[in-house]
Amino acid sequence: MTKLAPSILSADFARLGEEVKDVEQAGADYIHVDVMDGHFVPNITIGPLIVKAIRPVTALPLDVHLMIEKPEDYVEAFANAGADIITVHQEACVHLHRTIQMIKQNGVKAGVVINPATPVETIRPILPDVDLVLLMTVNPGFGGQAFIESVIPKIEEVAALKQEQNLSFEIEVDGGVNKDTAKRCTDAGTNVLVAGSAIFNSENRKQAMEEIRQEII
Ligand code: DX5
Ligand code: ZN
Repeated sequence: MTKLAPSILSADFARLGEEVKDVEQAGADYIHVDVMDGHFVPNITIGPLIVKAIRPVTALPLDVHLMIEKPEDYVEAFANAGADIITVHQEACVHLHRTIQMIKQNGVKAGVVINPATPVETIRPILPDVDLVLLMTVNPGFGGQAFIESVIPKIEEVAALKQEQNLSFEIEVDGGVNKDTAKRCTDAGTNVLVAGSAIFNSENRKQAMEEIRQEII
């Protein structure tokens, strides 16, 4: 079954604990945490302190998306803070295998992410080593941006490589996912949908999530 990972980037940060509980009760599968450093992306968000603060609030896996330069310098801090999955951008890792290895050595599932304009070919050598591949469907930095349609063939490409090589990583998409775009992603082979504004900007999060699930049946 397709998993839904609400991105807390669009949550009310003054009530973050309640917001996390709200989407957990509404049926979320992962909590997606967007970490931005103002260098790799033009925005600054949260760090390990916030991950540590929400850790006891939810039983759901914390899916920590690092949009930062030199992610290897912060892997341990996010692992200690309670991350269950840490994803790093291929574009930010000079030694990608080393960083993926480091994540696993910290007892955390490891994922690799590529931006919309980065070819799938750049992550082909790492596919056997990862637990998750995240394809960005917007340029990272902000919530509420428009879905970039040209990523769909890249999802299909990753799904085909996964099948050919008999691998078991999850395929996640992030950016502009809502009830209108979700089905194209799942048809192409996605099994984890990140959605920020489509869930948190809705009064009734349960209904927003059910509407997405209805579309992907
Ligand atoms: C984008 C972040 C996303 C973002 C998605 O930089 O990585 O996780 O929160 O937000 P929506 O779903 O509103 O595009
Ligand atoms: Zn994200």
